[in-house]
Amino acid sequence: MTEATTQAAERIAELRNQLDAHNYRYYVLDEPSVPDAEYDRLFNELKALEGQYPQLITPDSPTQRVGGTALSAFGSVRHEVPMLSLGNAFEDADLREFDRRVSEGLDLPVNDLFGAGAAVEYSCEPKLDGLAVSLLYESGVLVRGATRGDGSTGEDISANVRTVRNIPLKLQGTGWPAVLEVRGEVFMSKAGFEALNVRQAESGGKTFANPRNAAAGSLRQLDPKITASRPLEFCCYGVGCVQGELPDSQVGMLQALKGWGVPISRELKLARGVEECLAYYRDIGERRSTLAYEIDGVVFKVNSLASQRELGFRAREPRWAIAHKFPASEELTELLDVEFQVGRTGAVTPVARLKPVKVAGVTVSNATLHNMDEVARLGLMIGDTVIIRRAGDVIPQVMQVVTERRPADARPVLIPEQCPVCGSQVERTQLVKRSKGKETLSEGAVYRCVGRLACGAQLKQAIIHFVSRRAMDIEGLGEKSVEQLVDEGLVGSPADLYTLQFEQIVGLEGFAELSSNNLLAAIADSKRPSLARFVYALGIPDVGEETAKTLARSLGSLARIQRALPEVLTWLPDIGAEVAYEIHNFFDDDHNRTVIALLLERGVEPQEEGELHAEFAASVTLAALLAKLDIAFIAATGAKNLAEKAGSLDAVIALSQDWLELSVMKGLNEKAKQSLREFFANPQNTERARAMEAQLAEFGMHWASEKKVVEGLPLAGQTWVLTGALEIMSRDVAKEKLEGLGAKVAGSVSVKTTCVVAGPGAGSKLAKASELGVRVLDEVEFVSMLAGHGIQ
Ligand code: IVH
Repeated sequence: MTEATTQAAERIAELRNQLDAHNYRYYVLDEPSVPDAEYDRLFNELKALEGQYPQLITPDSPTQRVGGTALSAFGSVRHEVPMLSLGNAFEDADLREFDRRVSEGLDLPVNDLFGAGAAVEYSCEPKLDGLAVSLLYESGVLVRGATRGDGSTGEDISANVRTVRNIPLKLQGTGWPAVLEVRGEVFMSKAGFEALNVRQAESGGKTFANPRNAAAGSLRQLDPKITASRPLEFCCYGVGCVQGELPDSQVGMLQALKGWGVPISRELKLARGVEECLAYYRDIGERRSTLAYEIDGVVFKVNSLASQRELGFRAREPRWAIAHKFPASEELTELLDVEFQVGRTGAVTPVARLKPVKVAGVTVSNATLHNMDEVARLGLMIGDTVIIRRAGDVIPQVMQVVTERRPADARPVLIPEQCPVCGSQVERTQLVKRSKGKETLSEGAVYRCVGRLACGAQLKQAIIHFVSRRAMDIEGLGEKSVEQLVDEGLVGSPADLYTLQFEQIVGLEGFAELSSNNLLAAIADSKRPSLARFVYALGIPDVGEETAKTLARSLGSLARIQRALPEVLTWLPDIGAEVAYEIHNFFDDDHNRTVIALLLERGVEPQEEGELHAEFAASVTLAALLAKLDIAFIAATGAKNLAEKAGSLDAVIALSQDWLELSVMKGLNEKAKQSLREFFANPQNTERARAMEAQLAEFGMHWASEKKVVEGLPLAGQTWVLTGALEIMSRDVAKEKLEGLGAKVAGSVSVKTTCVVAGPGAGSKLAKASELGVRVLDEVEFVSMLAGHGIQ
């Protein structure tokens, strides 16, 4: 190792330790020790260093939670120690009976009604409503994650569990068993679930009926990146296979695990005797709705592990543990009507109006129906008797229709043709898919009012969003104030905030002289937002903070963002065809354009970054443009060959129509040639390609300027060699990514080679690399290096 590398390794170790320690305090102890910004700073420093020294990346680094490559199927995992289920108690009497059996089984005097006899110690925890997983740690490092499956065989979900933020990738401290299988529940908090459903509904994705389904659906994804984007959490409640020493009680063992960084329940308690268990059950029952996650009961386990062993199992259930369930929180009621609410982006959402009914102690008269697909899935009609479920303080759900009780005059639920708030047309969203040069539209789950800011409901929500903390950050404008401003006709668009006068607001409810002045000052102070904040504040459907940042960072100016063609937008990281269309449509809309023009006119000055991002500019090659056109049978390699041969888009078009030249061209097969010819014979396609090229040129990017841009790139001046079989990505893709980072990719290893990426079966090139002392990465390390540069 060179001195620089040694220094980097030391700093990397230090950063990882600090980040692990912060994570531990945050997730396990629930005592955050640093502000988010400080955490982000350490994290970014680590990511940058690992990008520079990819050979120092290890799978347990906190940066490695992004989710790797998608699988085509899960492997299976045999549970050496079976994953069992629990017997249930519903009544207090069932629990007393359980306690009696435990005492008997342990040859203790049975605890009678007079309190005589032994009080067995039990560990008490909530019964989380998620799904059971097993996490295997070898020498303190997480090596495998598995689902419960049928109890004996589960699925290998290692890549997915690594993305769950509070699952330690390596254990803290010392003294853990060499082999330790941690078991527990992966679940979604109520808040995480709600937020996920909002996101899903807005993007036309699948919404989930409850946090449990959402957790299960998120964990069992073949693409771990999807899992990584879901708010999953883990809570440990036991162990499976163990080689090494652990404390000899349930509570002691869980506390030891907690010390090693494994999250356990904050509600873990030790109870002496069954009465204390019942008190625990009642206490948790009373606090159930205030817990951050859903539970369906509590679990009692005999605390002594020796006693657990003595009691053993009956069929698939331990004799030493039981789940004491809460009464079902489901009730029957009648669906009186379905009303439609309009959200910020115009999404028209059905809401069930119910005949009021008490569910688990709370009167329920409304329930969300998410979207019309959900209404169809339930087969819901107005007048139906429905099963309502309320779990904790999650919004009540309609679980099921009792079709046998459907009255003769039941009416179908119809989406209104006009917006209930403003009377504009309501349209079904379209999902755009583009493949093989063709665009296909399919129907989305969401309906939208087209009224935009002319719709009172959308206007209010749009302004609430516009002024919110992470957008323009205008303090002093709560929901109530926004409603007043809109209802009084003082504000018809976000731009009108900037013409508000003192006299107009001072009389409004909640606005005295001081607060009116403060509000006006806050509005004036908001005039110089970053470009990213400004774009986010506009409330473009599907454009959250991250996408807004990408737009601002990559395109650098509002003018470019406004004019960008959808195809050009899909060039940016993480922007797919649908989001690209949303962005384009938003800026194409006259009303939106007017509002933006007014905002600028009234002194709002987004702080532009000016320059096009070098990485983005460098990714713009003729080959990439050809690949983006999605011409059938022309993928990355074909596009590359074509680009090299022709050199310009015009030449590609000419070549495609020149039968003789095309037929002798090498590097494209017959099918590809045929498809190329047909593609450019269609003037629409030619125009689309030219428009893309023209816009890229206008944005300052030229194929010819590729080399210049390379200089500023992270791997500029480096020469890489790819050898052996690559499994995660094809060689062409790997090459393209390296070139995108500024590296040259060569065919043979020499003293000039910076690094060799060697897959299985690598032979002479690998040998040569070790002979010359050239750095060698395997594919996983290579992918991590790319990730370090923000490339997936
Ligand atoms: S103990 C042998 N503790 O409930 C003991 N399970 O019905 C096995 N669960 O599959 C489990 N919270 O997914 C235990 N605190 C808790 C639990 C819990 C939720 C789930 C678990 C298990 C199912 C058993």
